[in-house]
Amino acid sequence: TSAQIGVTGLAVMGRNLARNFARNGYTVAVHNRTPARTRALVDEFGGEGEFIAAETAKEFVAALERPRRLVIMVKAGEPTDAVIQEFAPLLEPGDMIIDGGNAHFADTRRRERDLREQGIHFVGMGVSGGEEGALHGPSIMPGGPKESYDSLGPMLEKISAKAKDGSPCVTHVGPDGAGHFVKMVHNGIEYADMQLIGEAYQLLRDVAGYSPAQIAEIFRTWNQGRLDSYLIEITAEVLSHVDEATGKPFVDVVVDQAEQKGTGRWTVQIALDLGVPVSGIAEAVFARSLSGHAALRAASRGLAGPKASPLGEAEAAAFADRVEQALYASKIVSYTQGFHEIDAARAEYDWDIDLGAVSAIWRGGCIIRAAFLDRIRAAYDARADLPSLLSDDTFAQEIAAAQDDWREVLVAATRQGVPTPGFAAALAYYDALRAERLPAALTQGQRDFFGAHTYRRTDRDGSFHTLWGGDRSEVSS
Ligand code: 6PG
Repeated sequence: TSAQIGVTGLAVMGRNLARNFARNGYTVAVHNRTPARTRALVDEFGGEGEFIAAETAKEFVAALERPRRLVIMVKAGEPTDAVIQEFAPLLEPGDMIIDGGNAHFADTRRRERDLREQGIHFVGMGVSGGEEGALHGPSIMPGGPKESYDSLGPMLEKISAKAKDGSPCVTHVGPDGAGHFVKMVHNGIEYADMQLIGEAYQLLRDVAGYSPAQIAEIFRTWNQGRLDSYLIEITAEVLSHVDEATGKPFVDVVVDQAEQKGTGRWTVQIALDLGVPVSGIAEAVFARSLSGHAALRAASRGLAGPKASPLGEAEAAAFADRVEQALYASKIVSYTQGFHEIDAARAEYDWDIDLGAVSAIWRGGCIIRAAFLDRIRAAYDARADLPSLLSDDTFAQEIAAAQDDWREVLVAATRQGVPTPGFAAALAYYDALRAERLPAALTQGQRDFFGAHTYRRTDRDGSFHTLWGGDRSEVSS
């Protein structure tokens, strides 16, 4: 017998993905650098389906039916290149290498190009949903050549999560690095969602005066409404958890320094290169890095500021409703920014990415899965060339209804000294886009003053320069 798919790299993500294929009736060849892991998988989970345990790279490749489909699930960066170098010489034209790690899309583009010369199809595939998702159904974002999807797609559709309407959470996102790019932006949005939820929590705690257990209940209620999402759901779980050792709320015994592995940071770095304002995502990345500056924070602890004084009971409940509005409006903005970045990449790299399809495959399986994504899909389905999610009537109306509360929440946060960079950046973005005139005109004037950088006029075509050091007359340039 031969295997329809192979997985090499059997840490938890790889192992669970291999099991998922096997549970769905595929024969799966499994391989790991240290063979003990391969044996452990087969010993422990062999009963779940058909596995072929391969000790060596040669055995692994020989076990695969042609065209071979070889999934690599190793650390992004050098380990991925090392595995590709090990396997590529053993493969034949038409075979596929599928990278399911969190690779940087530029690496994926390079690998795709190099392997194409050898006739090997390289598929950079974003996989979201953590360990549970890998096992029970992730959201899958494959890039690479379209032909590869003809043979790979049906298998991925089988193992992927299904949205509520039953459709599989996988699509051919676009060529070469498009899949990993979209996964990267998914993670950037994930960071923003988490930051906004964190700010909502802090406000409910410090301004409304609720306990973590009470806040967990508030999140449970929100999860019944338009904020219905995996991240809100797990937030309630984390907040209601009590530390066994101390009897304190778990959230109070965890060191408040958030870590990151890099995908959120990449989202912002690339956005800077593409010239896309992803301020909400950027604030989320910066908030994590600020939290980690322990010495700087310790040195700043005595700085002056207001002391938050919690509200009374009735006011607290009303405030919580406002926070829900602020959170929802800010969430619309961060998704707007994330989709803008994908749209810009589509133009820059000539990727034919369907934004509606991207939102559709994020409806299930992934970390940002949410009822909300079905509405984004509907917005793009109604109008594929939507300039921005904010120009969708439904979202615009929702923000219109939320904005008074959104502003009030920021007033309260500012007055009481509770940091809300995500909410604030989102509102500033919204107000800047709405503005009739921006101070960018003044910026242009300053640039022209000190560097003769020229400016355009509102009433005439062309570029102009004012002779600032002379008689201040205008010349066209
Ligand atoms: C997912 C997650 C996954 C991983 C993140 C965590 O979609 O399943 O995004 O990829 O959990 O990389 O990122 P940080 O460690 O940077 O928070």
